[in-house]
Formats: sequence, structure tokens, C-alpha cells
Amino acid sequence: MGNKFRLGVLGSGKGSNFVAIADAIAAGKIPAEVAIVLSDVESAGILTRASERKIPAHFIPPGKFRTKLDEDAKRAFIGALQMVQVDLIVLAGFMRVLKGEFLRAFEGRIVNIHPSLLPSFPGLEAWKQALDHGVKLTGCTVHFVDAGVDSGAIIGQQAVPVLDHDTPEMLHHRIRAAEHELYPKCIAAIARGEISVVGRRVLGKKP
Ligand code: GRF
Repeated sequence: MGNKFRLGVLGSGKGSNFVAIADAIAAGKIPAEVAIVLSDVESAGILTRASERKIPAHFIPPGKFRTKLDEDAKRAFIGALQMVQVDLIVLAGFMRVLKGEFLRAFEGRIVNIHPSLLPSFPGLEAWKQALDHGVKLTGCTVHFVDAGVDSGAIIGQQAVPVLDHDTPEMLHHRIRAAEHELYPKCIAAIARGEISVVGRRVLGKKP
């Protein structure tokens, strides 16, 4: 399989972060390759975006639960990722919480992007939470995934202003643009071995 750093990307939505990562790889900004893209949503744009780039892309039925994978699905996701020997799992808008066996199988090797400056506004629709709370600055956070929700060690953050006339959609759009800058930079730092983790602190050359 060669010795390139291999990414497994998981997403449930349109895949704009995946596209930013794939474009950064193509531009030589991340020393890695996307080995596989998996989705729990059959019609997810991320699968189409991956197929267009000739990257293996598969829908895996998530099973009977709404916010997590059932046992069969969990095993299918783990198996697919191990089969292609991924070094890092990149969650790019994956809308299910990963638990137990999945976290153990890839311990310390799963990252996520969240549309707020954590620890503010974990959970769903973080841009709307920020708007409702009235903060003047929000942004996005790339973090390692642990057993909690949006609670793992923080790798990088990028701030985004909240403007007076913002609607939730406008703010989410501005945050997404920041995500597309931040996520590739964080993945590049990991792929280059430039960071280390000491407790909750991620040290080294990172955004
Ligand atoms: C992003 O806003 C990300 O922060 C959140 O889900 C969204 C994914 O968007 N976790 P996309 O599918 O990458 O366009």
C-alpha cells in the first residue's frame, strides 16, 4: 500500500470539508492520501465528491439508531477502515457519535471539526447556538475525538466574527469557509508528525 499517510474520511453531508482536504492534498499541501470515504447516508454529497475524484466511496447502512451506529454497522465501518490500513480517521460532518469499540480500534487517531470555538457550543447547530447566545466571536475547532461529545483535545482553532445582520445560514457559511482553511492545516501537521499530545494539550507546529 506504499508508505503515504492514509486518511479515512467519514461524512454524512455535502462534503465541502472533504473537498477542501482533497484539494489541499492535490496541491501538495498535505503529505497524505485519502484511502477511503464512508458515509451513513446513501445520498450524501460527500460520496459523489469522492467518486468524482476516483476515491473509493461507500455507503454503510447505520442500523436502527438515530445518533449512533448499531453493532453491525460499527463492525462494518471498522472493517472497511482497517482493510485499507488508515493512519487517521477524519470526521467531516459525520452526524453520529462514535463509541466504545470504534474508539478503541483507532485510539488517538480520530479527528473532528466542529463549527464553534470549543468548549463553547458543543453539539448540534453550534452556529445557531452562538447567534442565540449573542457572542461576537465564534469560529471552528479541530480536535481529537474522545468518548464525549466535541470534548477531545484541541488541535487548532480559527475565529470568525458574528455580524449584526447575520442569519444562522450566513454565519454557518462564514464558519465553513474558516473550516476549509483550518482542517487541511491541522491534518497536514498530523501527517508530518509535527504535533504531540500531553494530557489535554496538543503541542508543536499547528495552526
Ligand atoms: C461542518 O459545518 C462541520 O463543522 C460539521 O458538519 C459540517 C460539515 O459540512 N461538523 P460538509 O459536509 O463538510 O460540507
